[in-house]
Amino acid sequence: MAFDYKVADLSLAEFGRTEIRLAEHEMPGLMATREEYGPSQPLRGAKIMGSLHMTVQTAVLIETLVALGAEIRWVSCNIFSTQDHAAAAVVVGPDGTPDNPKGVPVFAWKGETLEEYWWCTEQALTWPDGEGPNMILDDGGDATMLVHKGAEYEKAGAVPDPSTADNEEFRVVLQRLKDSFAQDSQKWTRIASRIKGVTEETTTGVHRLYEMARDGKLLFPAINVNDSVTKSKFDNKYGCRHSLVDGINRATDVLIGGKVAVIAGFGDVGKGSAESLRGQGARVLVTEIDPICALQAAMEGYEVVRLEDVVETADIFITTTGNFNIITAEHMSRMKHQAIVGNIGHFDNEIEMVGLENMPGVEKKEVKPQVHEWRFPDGHSIIVLSEGRLLNLGNATGHPSFVMSNSFTNQTIAQIELFTKTEEYSLDVHVLPKILDEKVARLHLDALGVKLTELTKEQAAYIGVDVAGPYKPDHYRY
Ligand code: NAI
Repeated sequence: MAFDYKVADLSLAEFGRTEIRLAEHEMPGLMATREEYGPSQPLRGAKIMGSLHMTVQTAVLIETLVALGAEIRWVSCNIFSTQDHAAAAVVVGPDGTPDNPKGVPVFAWKGETLEEYWWCTEQALTWPDGEGPNMILDDGGDATMLVHKGAEYEKAGAVPDPSTADNEEFRVVLQRLKDSFAQDSQKWTRIASRIKGVTEETTTGVHRLYEMARDGKLLFPAINVNDSVTKSKFDNKYGCRHSLVDGINRATDVLIGGKVAVIAGFGDVGKGSAESLRGQGARVLVTEIDPICALQAAMEGYEVVRLEDVVETADIFITTTGNFNIITAEHMSRMKHQAIVGNIGHFDNEIEMVGLENMPGVEKKEVKPQVHEWRFPDGHSIIVLSEGRLLNLGNATGHPSFVMSNSFTNQTIAQIELFTKTEEYSLDVHVLPKILDEKVARLHLDALGVKLTELTKEQAAYIGVDVAGPYKPDHYRY
């Protein structure tokens, strides 16, 4: 059956399929989920719109959701993060060919413009039958934001005005909403009304959801997947430990050992990133605003500094804060010749790229896609990775399969929870019960040869837990 999609090149599907097959072996949680839930088809009737980096690992997630009965439309949540072979393989599907694709509609390619990115997002939110999805699986909250903003303007009966946007990306969003408003002034209200809920992948998206819930603006319930322990304490930390150096190496191939590297932010991503560079022999400095995280960094043996004091002497700068304007254009103008600047937080505004672009006399030269040399009027230059967007996905291939299996098993369970038990989830942001978090971890133990000790009944009673778990109270921090 013909279906709509837009990817770079379907002839890459075989390469994608081979990598998906290898990834499946490294994603035991997702494969066990297929086995456990496949027969009962808990997601039959679910129409899931996914906005999450279209990588090989995400392909295994998508095909797991399909195996559980869902209908899917998918986009990437970043203009640079799509792996074109993975996107092609998902469209072609395991049983199709490039001439006769039988898979899932994907709208994503590496190197989208902002206009294309938001076009893709709208396509995936627009089902061919004219209806929208009934579930969203989001990473960073862009899909959720588009639906909410659209519905907000429609409720107010106000035509979105792109000239009121305070940045280029939001201008593009408002233009898209303005165009859709002209065609159908109730489109987003209708889409929002059918959505049973959203499951959100990352810290930044979760932050947006809690703000909407606090302000009474949330239109459907949400599950915060990020704060499953088996997500944020694994993907954010060990994933970045793996993929940060991978991105820097593929982009620059500079020897990291001996260099001075600054990690801005020592949360979960910062902890993994600092370890990543220390593992390569870098001398790692950390900046923090939170005394607890600053103390943790110091106890781990990192020097905690202010960016202003090291901006002229460090060699590598990585932002991990989820905050904005961490590295300003003025900072960059003062950096050493060929200092490397990159961000691994969700949005590109951690580095003040707009300020850099508007600085008088600054020239930008493309070294290769997603690697740019910015030369200042005094002749010195810096190297900016992925134009300030998350470099582990822009310059490399993101986190490896095994760690993503943990994150995506949480995503799958969260989708099943919200879709099948909708009435149990109030209009708020929820986390998965700890017993499910423990289940996700359990599914990954065998592959690593872990032999878990079993509590005796007496021991369980002594520490006040059930032999089968959960083993910790909700306030435990790991
Ligand atoms: P987190 O909240 O655990 O850590 C952020 C840290 O930055 C906090 O400790 C905070 O105190 C600190 N911070 C805030 N403003 C600062 C400033 N001005 N200077 C120095 N430090 C500052 O968040 P988490 O989970 O580490 O995530 C960070 C970002 O990375 C988020 O945007 C998240 O969505 C994204 N992320 C990216 C991934 C990737 O693969 N690239 C994977 C997972 C998360």
